[in-house]
Amino acid sequence: KQGINVGLLGLGTVGTGVISIIEQHQQELKHQVGCSVNVTKVLVRDLDKKRGVTVDNDILTTNPEDVCANPDIDVVIEVRGGVDETKEQLIQALEHKKHVVTANKDLMALHGAELLHLASKNGCDLFYEASVAGGIPILRSLVDGLASDRITKMMGIVNGTTNYILTKMSQEGSSYLDVLAQAQDLGFAESDPTSDVEGLDAARKMAILATLGFSMDVKLDDVSVKGISSVTDRDLHYCEQLGYTMKLIGLAKRDDDRIEVSVGPTLLPNEHPLASVHNEYNAVYVYGEAVGETMFYGPGAGSLPTATAVVSDLVTIMKNMRLGVNGHAVNAPLHEKVLKENKEIDSK
Ligand code: NAP
Ligand code: HSE
Repeated sequence: KQGINVGLLGLGTVGTGVISIIEQHQQELKHQVGCSVNVTKVLVRDLDKKRGVTVDNDILTTNPEDVCANPDIDVVIEVRGGVDETKEQLIQALEHKKHVVTANKDLMALHGAELLHLASKNGCDLFYEASVAGGIPILRSLVDGLASDRITKMMGIVNGTTNYILTKMSQEGSSYLDVLAQAQDLGFAESDPTSDVEGLDAARKMAILATLGFSMDVKLDDVSVKGISSVTDRDLHYCEQLGYTMKLIGLAKRDDDRIEVSVGPTLLPNEHPLASVHNEYNAVYVYGEAVGETMFYGPGAGSLPTATAVVSDLVTIMKNMRLGVNGHAVNAPLHEKVLKENKEIDSK
């Protein structure tokens, strides 16, 4: 076989970034995985829309089966968003034994366990690094780099849109609605930005982080959520006068078996390292019993940073295909196995 064939679901902000990276880094990818990557089908809604990248018209389709049930496609990359319809499409892809990469935190926070189980049943990889904190490889770091530690707390800025809004409102005096419109134009916001500004997007990410960091099944309903839509210029002005910076902070803590996960506007002293994380940037503090304090920082939204995480997952899949294995640490079989073994050990 000449190369790996990839099908894309979606060609918006993240999808165009994925095509750009695959094109521009073709040499680097080939060097790492020993073969070329060919994007052979792309699902879109509007076939006539002008795109930020050049793609042959004949690879565009409005029929998801052309991607998910296509016998020539090895890997499906889901960057279309949405939950119910998208879940059905990924189920179809996995049942057709395609490896899957997704950037979709809404889907993974709600149905991740079920999809990961289906992937492992079909001998497929399902990776989702881009779903949390855009270009920061935080999921890999939690379950791989920090695998030997016991993580007790995570705290961070995990939504780029709200951080962009709070930064511009406090530093430039811009109005909430103007900056929200800018964040939408820049491709940071969700198609319905309510989930950004009401804290739900951050809550989904915190549920994923807590599930992986604490090796427990943390549900979205377990997360208490408050957004920034009611924050006013005046609130920010008073914060500044008192020497504080307001940020939308996600917090996940565990104390023995008690887990607490929340998202809400928080006043940080100006000297706090998270107070100087600006614009669409994200940062996550991870506290481990052995390692102590680590901090991960980088662009949390936007086309190329997010696409970097997506294409890196693709590279892992291609390496796995070459070796004839599945999975790295962000993977259900391992996660489920650990949970099961823990229960067995506890019950002895
Ligand atoms: P987007 O710009 O709105 O792009 C969505 C793409 O999916 C578009 O190409 C659209 O087609 C296609 N699409 C949507 N619904 C469809 C349907 N029913 N049938 C066929 N095609 C459909 O979204 P995005 O910002 O790239 O985000 C995609 C995913 O990545 C979401 O899950 C988002 O949460 C996640 N994500 C985004 C970012 C970011 O910074 N933007 C970062 C991390 C994760 P048309 O182009 O024809 O309309
Ligand atoms: N809307 C999300 C954000 C995209 O602003 O953080 C990245 O997940």
